[in-house]
Amino acid sequence: MESKVKLAGHPVHPMLIVFPLGLLSTSVVFDIIGLITHEARWTEVSYYMVSAGIIGGLLAAVPGALDWWAIPRGTRAKRIGLLHGVGNVVVLALFIVSWLLRREVPAAPPTGAIVAALIGLAIALGTAWLGGELVNRLGVGVDDGASLDAPSSLTAQPVRGAGRQAGDRRAYPSTAYSGIERRAVGSAR
Ligand code: HEM
Repeated sequence: MESKVKLAGHPVHPMLIVFPLGLLSTSVVFDIIGLITHEARWTEVSYYMVSAGIIGGLLAAVPGALDWWAIPRGTRAKRIGLLHGVGNVVVLALFIVSWLLRREVPAAPPTGAIVAALIGLAIALGTAWLGGELVNRLGVGVDDGASLDAPSSLTAQPVRGAGRQAGDRRAYPSTAYSGIERRAVGSAR
């Protein structure tokens, strides 16, 4: 099922999620290093990572929500997508709590700030798996007709009506198939 929010032919949600996933998970690693070494610079950097990760997460949630909106009701994808989306909102809420607790003292975050981030990361492992399930198992965000030999997303244009006669009742090909279809239509002439 094709994504509704694309850039250069590819879904925007997977492009953006690398920021919250990378920043928030690395912030937890830095917190732990800070706890072990007692060097304030680790937890200070962690504070900025949490800040940037939250902003990235809020931005990433928008195209994700739009793609979820387009999934037909009553499907497993709709349910898994809801769990994934709500779970990630909880993850972001936990990191926002962590940020609020540490913002006055970035160099020495209170235990609550680190615990909230740890719980957020643990839930994120599950919600990220659900995201993979959505894409790899349920085909959400995958172009219709995707195949090992599909033409480039940049060059393949929709070919609505190309090479068709009036009254041709065949379904129009999807974007991913359009190049193949065009060649097939061309060679059949
Ligand atoms: C903000 C934190 C979020 C993170 C870190 C995140 C993470 C992910 C990941 C890792 C994937 C799999 C990507 C892939 O394998 O290519 C994914 C896919 C997906 N997520 Fe999220 N997600 C977030 C928020 C949301 C929200 C709020 C929704 C709305 C319900 C949502 C809906 C989807 C959908 C529909 C997909 C399928 C692929 C697509 O549409 O591009 N996500 N997400």
